[in-house]
Amino acid sequence: MTHRKLTPGKLIIASHNQGKVREIRALLESFGIEPISASDLNLPEPEETGTTFGENALLKAKASAEAGNCVALADDSGLCVAALDGRPGVYTADWAERQWFEGEKGRDWYMAMGKVEGKLSELGPDVDRSAYFAATLALAWPDGHSEVFEGRVNGSLVWPPRGTLGFGYDPVFSPIGFEETFAELDPEQKHAMSHRADAFKKLVAACF
Ligand code: IMP
Repeated sequence: MTHRKLTPGKLIIASHNQGKVREIRALLESFGIEPISASDLNLPEPEETGTTFGENALLKAKASAEAGNCVALADDSGLCVAALDGRPGVYTADWAERQWFEGEKGRDWYMAMGKVEGKLSELGPDVDRSAYFAATLALAWPDGHSEVFEGRVNGSLVWPPRGTLGFGYDPVFSPIGFEETFAELDPEQKHAMSHRADAFKKLVAACF
């Protein structure tokens, strides 16, 4: 299968999540790409109406490529817990949705991690705590062409949350072979093994 190559120059990171933008920037640094985020360009954020990571990643990449008239890269990712039949999955960010006060919505990651833990503990003390982070990266060009790459990292859930680095559910996720959570590991270590890095390696092999 032939893949379209990425040429040096501008690329929109189709995300308004600063944690993701930071990680994707770090991954792109050495490839002569000039990343600019969708929020810096004030591009609208499409509704994530897909039922898979791939559908949502494509939706975001295509919206930015069209609106910004430039190649765009989007990530859709989430935490899949074995004992919860893969939930929260594509709804990972939604589990953190919270009404702070009238009309004002925000995300509360501590509450979201507690929700996962609450559902796990309902299943008893010997519940299987294995989980994985999944990431799908989608590249979209203004002419409609697109490429999709999937990655994952396996691990298990810990409680209580530990560490202050990273973002989202990092404080409760410990990758296989490590005692530390993603929020305790050096960011460079996380970048070398994460779900996003796995998908990114496939993108690099195909498109650079
Ligand atoms: P979405 O891809 O914007 O729908 O959001 C997925 C959500 O999954 C993020 O907002 C994070 O909470 C979570 N997530 C994805 N990747 C990571 C990660 O590397 N660490 C921690 N949480 C993550």
